Amino acid sequence: AIDIATLTKQTGHTTIDYGFVNTAATKSAITYIDGDEGILRYRGYPIEQLAKASSYLEVAWLLIYGELPTADELDAWDHRIRRHTLLHEDLKRFFSALPPTAHPMSVLSSATAALSTYYEHESDPDNPDHVELTTVRLLAKLPVIAAYAHKKSIGQAFLYPDNSLSFVDNFLRLNFGVMSEQYEINPVVSQALERLLILHEDHEQNASTSTVRLVGSTGANQFSSVSAGINALYGPLHGGANEAVLDMLARIRDSGESVQRFVERVKNKEDGVKLMGFGHRVYKNYDPRAKLVKESADAVLAELGVHDPLLDLAKELEEIALNDEYFQQRRLYPNVDFYTGVIYKAMGFPTRMFTVLFAIGRLPGWLAHWREMQYDPQKKIGRPQQLYVGSPERDYPRR
Ligand code: ACO
Repeated sequence: AIDIATLTKQTGHTTIDYGFVNTAATKSAITYIDGDEGILRYRGYPIEQLAKASSYLEVAWLLIYGELPTADELDAWDHRIRRHTLLHEDLKRFFSALPPTAHPMSVLSSATAALSTYYEHESDPDNPDHVELTTVRLLAKLPVIAAYAHKKSIGQAFLYPDNSLSFVDNFLRLNFGVMSEQYEINPVVSQALERLLILHEDHEQNASTSTVRLVGSTGANQFSSVSAGINALYGPLHGGANEAVLDMLARIRDSGESVQRFVERVKNKEDGVKLMGFGHRVYKNYDPRAKLVKESADAVLAELGVHDPLLDLAKELEEIALNDEYFQQRRLYPNVDFYTGVIYKAMGFPTRMFTVLFAIGRLPGWLAHWREMQYDPQKKIGRPQQLYVGSPERDYPRR
């Protein structure tokens, strides 16, 4: 076997960096993270302040355009987004071609790619008006697609958007409203969801955002780039972790295994079992988002009058892990996904919708990064190098 150092020498300047642990692919002015200190800022504003006082659309504007909007700008943008929520009736039929068992994340990514087909002549990445329009269309229509993916998975009819409602309330109604009945918005649920979405809006060069940038660097439009980002988010090591956390908690509860015994299995790496919702490539301290989510979990469940033993189980797991040498030495702390699932469950979302909610949250970040990449004068197609380790030249055998 040839070692990496030898290979690097052989190939001149190429170095290998598995998982891009040390290699920056770009400069960016959008999000700042200090993983050692547990700091996260969007365009300089601390996440704690935004989560407390801002709205999903205001933060989206901030990420995309670099500054907070004026009240008039935000109002006009909100109005414009509300006017674009309808899906083409033919696209609605697209959902019925998919099997009832389809995972809502697969439905979301394929419907987003399909959405592109309706706007092919208005989504040119080099036309600034098209870029604005596509930004608005994606922000307006993705939540509707997400809600239809949910409705499809439970066999219920799709509702038309109600554009008199705010972004988050409209989304809740599309998910939980039923035809011919008035849907009552619960302000506690609405505020908590807005907060969770804000916490997810950006996280610099994570796998899905890097995917969006890489696909965008080829000249692909925002629909195609975002659809690729959704697929990257789907994996259990990334956005899929929120679903995996709830599955893990439910399995521990149903198996009757003690939390301590489960943690031992994680530490012994039995069958590759991991403590899902723990650990992060960048945070080597408590994820600041996880702190805020944990606060919300208690508040939301109390307000809704829900007592979920899975929340108790999650807290017990956290307590044991944080006091255990294995996790301390590796600096493994809860990440944003550890407590979100418990809240989504209390709100009434099925487990398979959790990563879809993450995608709606992350959409503004994807759009901001796509735009930063697109307008960067040093833009270049993303094309990693490799170190070839295959066979040397050989002759095709005569038969
Ligand atoms: N449970 C148990 N051990 C873990 C965990 C975990 N959740 N995470 C990392 N480790 C261990 C690894 O086994 C490794 O141990 P070793 O040195 O004995 O081999 C060590 O900690 C370092 O871990 P890496 O895998 O090298 O860390 P990396 O930065 O590559 O991975 C990741 C980060 C993927 C998030 C990882 O911590 C993980 O798989 N966590 C669980 C999945 C998860 O929650 N993902 C969500 C991430 S946040 C997000 O996308 C929003």
